[in-house]
Amino acid sequence: MITTGQKIAIQRVERSRLQDTDMSNIKFGRVFSDHMLVMDFEDGAWKAPAIVPFGDLELSPASLVLHYSQTIFEGLKAYRTADGGVSIFRPQANIARMNRSAKRMCMPEIPEDIFLDALVELVRLDKNWLPEGGEASLYIRPFLFASDEYIGVKPSDNYKFIIFTCPVRGYYNEPVRVKIETQYSRAFPGGTGEAKCGGNYAGGLYPAKLGQDKGFHQLIWTDGLTHQYIEESGTMNIFFNIEGTLITPALDGTILQGVTRDSILRIARDEGIRVEERRVSVEEVVSAARNGRMRSAFGAGTAATMAQIATIAYGDEEFTLPETAERRLANQVGRRLNEIRRGIVADPYGWLVPVN
Ligand SMILES: Cc1ncc(COP(=O)(O)O)c(C=O)c1O
Repeated sequence: MITTGQKIAIQRVERSRLQDTDMSNIKFGRVFSDHMLVMDFEDGAWKAPAIVPFGDLELSPASLVLHYSQTIFEGLKAYRTADGGVSIFRPQANIARMNRSAKRMCMPEIPEDIFLDALVELVRLDKNWLPEGGEASLYIRPFLFASDEYIGVKPSDNYKFIIFTCPVRGYYNEPVRVKIETQYSRAFPGGTGEAKCGGNYAGGLYPAKLGQDKGFHQLIWTDGLTHQYIEESGTMNIFFNIEGTLITPALDGTILQGVTRDSILRIARDEGIRVEERRVSVEEVVSAARNGRMRSAFGAGTAATMAQIATIAYGDEEFTLPETAERRLANQVGRRLNEIRRGIVADPYGWLVPVN
């Protein structure tokens, strides 16, 4: 158990909604556990955190966040482990990223010890919401938003920090079809691509919808200046296995520094797999897919963990990649990550934070 001396007041629900919830049939992001953590930033300081029943917020229509999108968020997961316990996967990495996002968006950083305590307390309180079964986890959503009642573009003086959790199962039921996007952009050098801020996602909705209308699950974003280099895919970082080398775009300020990406790179290197983090050109990816040198491609992110890519479209062409069962290297890394997360093998990296 992690303690920092921070006391979190807890107001429990009078009656849990768990018994009314069909846990065998949960849609990702639609079911919410009983409690949430709330902590306000006012008069230049963080107030005491409190865990309260999950419920609606009261907001002024003039709240800054509703107009100018000064808001950031995170996504991480807790898993049931083989010893019968529950652990949160790499929360310190998400806390650090949230505070980098806060800095970029002119928002107050959240004290790391309070943040970690809050995550552990909240997951402990609602751990019965964690479904049983292979793909099951408790998705944890921390977010921070500008709460000043003010019309005018400026950093807010007041903020609200909230964490809630959702029981979830798998994200994609099948390998995905993706399209390399060469018209619209998600991010630009000097922009906010590296921050996990709301506006990045709103701006991607329209191009993603155009892709979905054509039957693609996701886009592969390319660089905002030339559209000649691969960046990431939807809410995932992207990896390609080209002739036995695992290749992923380097972190250049425009893509999100994914925790899953980092975990996969670490595991792959330790498994002796050749890994390259560098600029990845569209031309190289398309040519490898076209002439059968691409053995697999997958997205990596907390929600889906690893989403195997079945086909990649570029312009009028669409390339089919090898069947998932044949993807030896991707499957090897995915299996190892899963075994560590679920405590099936020892965690050599100190990634799991137990909550019980
Ligand atoms: C744009 C974007 N890229 C990549 C990722 C993957 O990051 P992580 O592995 O930390 O979930 C996410 C999800 O958080 C994302 O929203």
